[in-house]
Amino acid sequence: MSSVEITVAENGAAAARLVAERLAEQARAGGNIVLTGGSTPRHAYEIAAELESDWSRAELWWVDERCVPAGDQRSNYAMTKAALLDRLDGAPAAVHRMQGELGRDDAVAEYKHELADIGTFEVVLLGLGPDGHVASLFPNFPTLDVTSRDVVGSQAGHEPFVDRISMTLPRICNTRELLFLVAGEDKAEAVAHAFADKPSHATPGSLARATEGTTRAILDRAAAAKL
Ligand code: 6PG
Repeated sequence: MSSVEITVAENGAAAARLVAERLAEQARAGGNIVLTGGSTPRHAYEIAAELESDWSRAELWWVDERCVPAGDQRSNYAMTKAALLDRLDGAPAAVHRMQGELGRDDAVAEYKHELADIGTFEVVLLGLGPDGHVASLFPNFPTLDVTSRDVVGSQAGHEPFVDRISMTLPRICNTRELLFLVAGEDKAEAVAHAFADKPSHATPGSLARATEGTTRAILDRAAAAKL
């Protein structure tokens, strides 16, 4: 398993900026960019839109989604639309939204179809939950053992407690770069388990490493406190 290059930024805003710079650079270069949900990346997406407003060479994907309508405030797509998509002059060449409103099984089937011909991603962005989850792959859930390189449905293992759709670990890890953005002291324990301990199903973040690419973690000081 590849090692993780760790960068510790002064605070959450500085960490978000570093991630935004990387996303903007990839938007310019084009290719398949995979985004994450949660609240931490919102600021990174806003800055990325300011740094590069033409994303027409890139295609966007999501690592996970909640089974809610696209306009719901819990939707990862809705967060990304407000923070990034609505601020762009040049829309991405394709926006591959997970259709959470279809319900778990149908949304999984639809996204499997969407992903069928896609090879290695350029960059996959991940957050890390305080319990160590990544995407919607929760600690000790059987979804961690799925070996197919696509998507899986899951019950919620964390709030908001709605059904989830998630890329599987083999799909997430098939990328030239796997980039974590983690900020806040409530993540410090999970960060230590994910990046400094042995890989374990108890901390899904410890299992997420680019199979043949680079894995980087951009942290703020608070999240890095227990490394
Ligand atoms: C989701 C996510 C999830 C997220 C972590 C961290 O849909 O919830 O994709 O894996 O990245 O829960 O979320 P926060 O940034 O909100 O702490």
